[in-house]
Amino acid sequence: MKRWVLGFLPLVVLSAIFLVAGSKANDVPPETEKKVAEIGHRATMALLKKLLGEVTSSLEEKGAAATVAYCSGRALPLTDSISKAFGVEIKRTSFKYRNPKNKPDRYEEEALRYFEKFFKERKKPPKYYIQKVKVGDKLAYRYYFPLKVLKLCLTCHGVPGKDIKPEVLKVLKEKYPEDRATGYKEGDFRGVVRVQIPAEKVR
Ligand code: HEC
Repeated sequence: MKRWVLGFLPLVVLSAIFLVAGSKANDVPPETEKKVAEIGHRATMALLKKLLGEVTSSLEEKGAAATVAYCSGRALPLTDSISKAFGVEIKRTSFKYRNPKNKPDRYEEEALRYFEKFFKERKKPPKYYIQKVKVGDKLAYRYYFPLKVLKLCLTCHGVPGKDIKPEVLKVLKEKYPEDRATGYKEGDFRGVVRVQIPAEKVR
């Protein structure tokens, strides 16, 4: 084999390894992946069902402006109570977050980028993304579920003046002076639900 070919080889091999690792969950065995996905999915569905249920009925009964006020006090405690019930830690996060408490950390940014790519390329995103992470000195798994913008979401996350009414925008500005979560269109990638599961739970 020619010298230049040999010199090239390690590079080709390396980039192949990198590509595979970059598109898959990192060193999570299939059995563990199954358990993580199961717990993650159940916790995610419990949260979304509860949140959507409360938001929909409040929108009907009290209107959008009152629902924003209600949501801002309720979203995080509700997320915490579902976390406790499942023995996990749930968070909703996004690059364009409304509440600074929902700002992504570097692992979450990786997961957001992973899903964002599919939306940008107008491809169907995978059902979930899984990571193995270190939290302090403990190992945990993270399950991520992608969230798409539905018509209903535009009331509070759409284009100000078009989808978001002035009275709603007023409450949003009061509660979230640095709100980044507006200007969305139906079908956009909104963010993820992240479920963090202690490693001993899936052993
Ligand atoms: C009635 C208004 C309202 C509607 C409708 C609404 N949201 Fe929100 N959304 C909010 C508020 C308020 C927050 C900030 C909650 C907090 O303080 O934690 C928020 C936060 C979020 C977050 C957490 C990240 C962040 O930006 O802080 C996500 C993800 C999210 N919304 C997605 C959605 C999706 C998807 C829909 C539609 C299915 C939707 N929302 C519908 C008001 C709304």
